[in-house]
Amino acid sequence: MRHLTIGAATAAPRRVSALALGAMRFGTATPEPAAFAILDHFLAAGGNFIDTANNYAWWHDGSRGGHSEAVLGRWRASRGLTDEVVIATKLGARPTRAGVEFADRAAVDEGLSAAAIRAAARESLERLGVERLDLLYAHVEDPRVPLAETVAALGALVAGGEVGLLGVSNHRAWRVERARALASAAGVAGYEVLQYHRSYLQHRTDLPSPRSRFGEPGLLSADLCDYMTAEPDLVNVAYSPLLAGGYTRPDKAPGEEYTAAGNAARLGALTEIARETDATPNQVVLAWLMGDSPPSIPLVGASSVDQLQESLDAVELTLSADQRARLDEAR
Ligand SMILES: NC(=O)c1ccc[n+]([C@@H]2O[C@H](COP(=O)([O-])OP(=O)(O)OC[C@H]3O[C@@H](n4cnc5c(N)ncnc54)[C@H](OP(=O)(O)O)[C@@H]3O)[C@@H](O)[C@H]2O)c1
Repeated sequence: MRHLTIGAATAAPRRVSALALGAMRFGTATPEPAAFAILDHFLAAGGNFIDTANNYAWWHDGSRGGHSEAVLGRWRASRGLTDEVVIATKLGARPTRAGVEFADRAAVDEGLSAAAIRAAARESLERLGVERLDLLYAHVEDPRVPLAETVAALGALVAGGEVGLLGVSNHRAWRVERARALASAAGVAGYEVLQYHRSYLQHRTDLPSPRSRFGEPGLLSADLCDYMTAEPDLVNVAYSPLLAGGYTRPDKAPGEEYTAAGNAARLGALTEIARETDATPNQVVLAWLMGDSPPSIPLVGASSVDQLQESLDAVELTLSADQRARLDEAR
């Protein structure tokens, strides 16, 4: 396994594996024994970067979520793990009540007020059974709350030792920049890690999303790529890189959002490079992301050890400059 540093500009950087494991479905769609087997396998392969959120996976049973954090807490305790693993969690998108429809979720998010942040962090510490959250992301935007309030509350958690590093997910580029500028001016910790969707196939940017009529805010936009280039200590943790199995499984064929111009050519290039490298399309996607600029850490989900192993093997796959250029230039 290769490792890289996140939070390089802070006093508390962490070394994390070049591949991150998503625990979103652990404790719901993936029962606890299978989740433990996947986690043990990841750790044995040198993986140490694990992702969850305080709201995973509320939509599975109409609850408020928390299953995934609880499973990770029990796994960490049962294996006697401390700083060997870096468990990232998120707050802000936990429903304030049970029984919410997916389409209505934004209206009932706990949000990013100071009070909501303090309460959510306390609960995540408890569910994970730790004294400090390794990495805490603001999960979604909360336009109801002044950014300065969110920034101060998150910064206070780092100052108080309850949180190691801060990150941000699904926020527009201008909010990321403004929040980081506010944090810097106030002398508190700011966002050091990004978490946005990125894969080899391009996601359309012209479709409205449930969270914004201007398009899906969770994509690693051109603005964010440019911002990351100017701020080289930032890294993106790229969620859903395998399109939930869409590259290889007819039952998971990508939907309308992946009908962007150029994607047919990209699929052609992917098939060609997979054949040349004797790898699977999933592995080529992950290898492409791992060598991406600005840098990405692919964040994969897996519901079996075999699926995870396919992704782990991608860490050993190196694309030549020519193969990378052909993938980049297919359109
Ligand atoms: N920040 C955010 O807003 C956000 C949003 C979404 C996800 N995330 C994070 O990102 C993580 C990954 O997201 P994701 O689950 O959407 O990721 P993904 O890696 O794109 O999809 C995972 C699913 O793909 C299938 N799969 C995985 N490996 C496979 C393989 N080798 N062959 C065939 N199918 C395979 C499995 O489906 P089956 O279970 O059906 O077999 C698996 O559950 C989540 O766990 C979560 O931590 C964050």
